[in-house]
Amino acid sequence: MQQTQRGLSLVGSGSARLAATLSNSDLSQVVDTSDEWIATRTGIRQRQVVTAQDSLASLAAEAGTAALAMGNCNPTDVDLIILATSTPDDLFGSAAQVQARLGASRAVAFDLTAACSGFVFALVTAAQYMRLGVYSTVLVIGADVLSRWTDWSDRRTCVLFGDGAGAVLLRASERDRLLGFELRSDGTLNGCLNLTYQAESQPLVGDTTIQTGTFQPVTMNGKEVYRFAVKRVPEILEKALFHAGLTAAEIDWLLLHQANQRILDAVANRLAVPAERVLSNMARHGNTSAASIPIALDEAVREGKVKTGDVVASSGFGAGLSWGAAIFTWG
Ligand code: COA
Repeated sequence: MQQTQRGLSLVGSGSARLAATLSNSDLSQVVDTSDEWIATRTGIRQRQVVTAQDSLASLAAEAGTAALAMGNCNPTDVDLIILATSTPDDLFGSAAQVQARLGASRAVAFDLTAACSGFVFALVTAAQYMRLGVYSTVLVIGADVLSRWTDWSDRRTCVLFGDGAGAVLLRASERDRLLGFELRSDGTLNGCLNLTYQAESQPLVGDTTIQTGTFQPVTMNGKEVYRFAVKRVPEILEKALFHAGLTAAEIDWLLLHQANQRILDAVANRLAVPAERVLSNMARHGNTSAASIPIALDEAVREGKVKTGDVVASSGFGAGLSWGAAIFTWG
């Protein structure tokens, strides 16, 4: 008798290739900054930005296509697509456009917004459907185009972010490769990192006014976010590791949201994870928000660093504020 498959495996990864690269010295022509300041404070050397030919949906679909190819999966086999993004092409959601671009005609698709924690939140959400046996082939995509919402005159934020998309393909399996997770939110700290809607009241008819307006560029209290990350990320990783029945000494790879090399170093230090087991690509991509974890994972898998059976401890953190950790075995 065939056993019901109520676990999940991560069997494919992919990421989008963006054509336009902005180096730190390019940015020094836009704002008063330098390669030395940016590289020393953040570890970032360059980032990619979307060009006029691309969109959030096109990047996400490119990443999804690559993950399907690695996992030898036909688009019509996909049951569910979760698109983690805070920068959709359409506020009604971009996941359905990604579904159409992929030709994943059977899949239901929706957006999930949790900023830089989005990929981890989406991975854990996907796992719940799979553990219930509702869906067995799921694409989790993290994609963001923060260049659309960056204040390019604010040197404290514009040097940090980049655009990108990464994806992971999940398949139902007997053994569950998601070993443990923990998710958190704290809205009392919401003001530390925002991309807010600014409303303007417009009289409509009689005494009734409606709101028109637009979203304002990203604002951030860098010091507060830094403090939050170096305290909360090690804590939540330890909790997720506890659920997985593991210790930090047993992980093969630490895969953090690529926000700042100093944050990665501080978290690795707190957990006593040696530098050679920390995945870092922010020098080349900057902070790509929900895309950063799946891009770093995809690059490490394709470089042959992350191998089948390796234990990966991932953690996303950012606006909300929100943070989460997921411990999984690759392959
Ligand atoms: N180039 C040159 N100088 C800059 C600069 C830049 N790009 N950005 C800020 N500065 C200046 C400031 O104006 C300030 O100068 P002043 O002392 O004359 O006023 C000085 O550098 C220090 O600024 P400060 O904001 O205190 O720097 P910091 O040491 O806190 O570093 C961050 C700034 C953003 C690198 C750091 O706070 C950080 O990494 N925070 C976390 C951000 C993050 O990861 N966000 C995303 C989470 S998902």
